[in-house]
Amino acid sequence: MVYDHAEVRALADVLVDAPDTWIISDDIYNRMIFDGLGYAHLVKARPELRDRTILLDSISKTYGMPGWRVGMAAAPPAAAQALVNLNSNAITNLPEVVNAAAIAAFSGPQDVPEAKCREFQGKRDQVMAAFAAIPGVNCPKPQGAFYVFPDVSCAFGKAHNGKRIDNDVDFCNVLLDTKGVACVPGSAFGEPRAIRISYTCPTAQLPDGLKRIQDFFAEIA
Ligand SMILES: Cc1ncc(COP(=O)(O)O)c(C=O)c1O
Repeated sequence: MVYDHAEVRALADVLVDAPDTWIISDDIYNRMIFDGLGYAHLVKARPELRDRTILLDSISKTYGMPGWRVGMAAAPPAAAQALVNLNSNAITNLPEVVNAAAIAAFSGPQDVPEAKCREFQGKRDQVMAAFAAIPGVNCPKPQGAFYVFPDVSCAFGKAHNGKRIDNDVDFCNVLLDTKGVACVPGSAFGEPRAIRISYTCPTAQLPDGLKRIQDFFAEIA
């Protein structure tokens, strides 16, 4: 889910009343929000939180550049300096070529993230349509990013071609072995009834992957 402006404002109100609390706000998907919901953040909602908020972002998602390992933090000066001190003892600085790639991402055409966001919203809709056609599976509709988290527990206690599926890990293993589709067990995220599917694959591959998942469910008995 994506917190809307009212929810972020309500959270910000609580944090204003907790003055000893520091806030780390990981807003890495802020350019990948669907359905016109818009990006709401704590400091805009309550500017007085600025002095104890560390905002995190990265080029990984917005520009599809996870391998470059460039992240950004906006923080009050003392905290920012502490981050620099810590970081400078670990990685010193970004390699020049990586710096140049990040600058190119920031200063290049900014319609790329928007186009990507539209593409992911379309893929989200394809994934939702595929899961709506699978009886017994509840798949909450994501409002951003590129993951779905369907509850697949209807398959637990059953088998696929003689291979038992007793939990989310079995489910992912059997799906991978038999259909070549890789998912992450939900227990890695604290919800063992679900699996996480990332739909970052090329658009042309998505229908085949979804069909394989549908076939898999149809073959479970
Ligand atoms: C919410 C969130 N924050 C941070 C990260 C880390 O991204 P990176 O280390 O590539 O910048 C991820 C990556 O999946 C993420 O989902």
